[in-house]
Amino acid sequence: MNKAIALIGLSGCGKTTYAKVLSEKLDRPLYDLDALIESKNYLSVREIFEQFGEAHFRKLEWELFLECIQDNNAIIATGGGLVPHAVMCGYKKPLNVFFVYLSPPLEEIIRRLENPVDRLQRPLLDNSVDLSQKVTLLHQARSKAYLAWADEIIETF
Ligand code: S3P
Repeated sequence: MNKAIALIGLSGCGKTTYAKVLSEKLDRPLYDLDALIESKNYLSVREIFEQFGEAHFRKLEWELFLECIQDNNAIIATGGGLVPHAVMCGYKKPLNVFFVYLSPPLEEIIRRLENPVDRLQRPLLDNSVDLSQKVTLLHQARSKAYLAWADEIIETF
């Protein structure tokens, strides 16, 4: 397939794990957006949210995504907010990207995110929020956007 492949879906759906597997199996370069944003800005995602706000993070995230998709071989692990934010802003779905929506059961996502260390790294899900309620709300708010851009939906476990 002569297109970048982007894995999309909520935090905890397995984007990073599956992106690594795909990159190894297909021998294509891996781009993990959160990790790249952190290394380019010398700050964690949480620090970017805290110091500059979510809107700034979204700008960095979208600009970096546009850079990564210049590589038709790219395998991209996106952040959970990338596509919902792009849809909300009215951005056009890039045609040179194949979007794969990973959609495990919500209970599984919640179980995976229960680790307080994982949650600390994710400002929207940090330990101050009711995890199950927040994930359910995010799913309700975002699944339409994921479905709108998905070229393939994988109901993983
Ligand atoms: C976010 C998800 C995170 C990260 C940031 C915002 C979101 O990535 O980009 O904390 O809006 O859902 P993961 O999906 O890898 O957790």
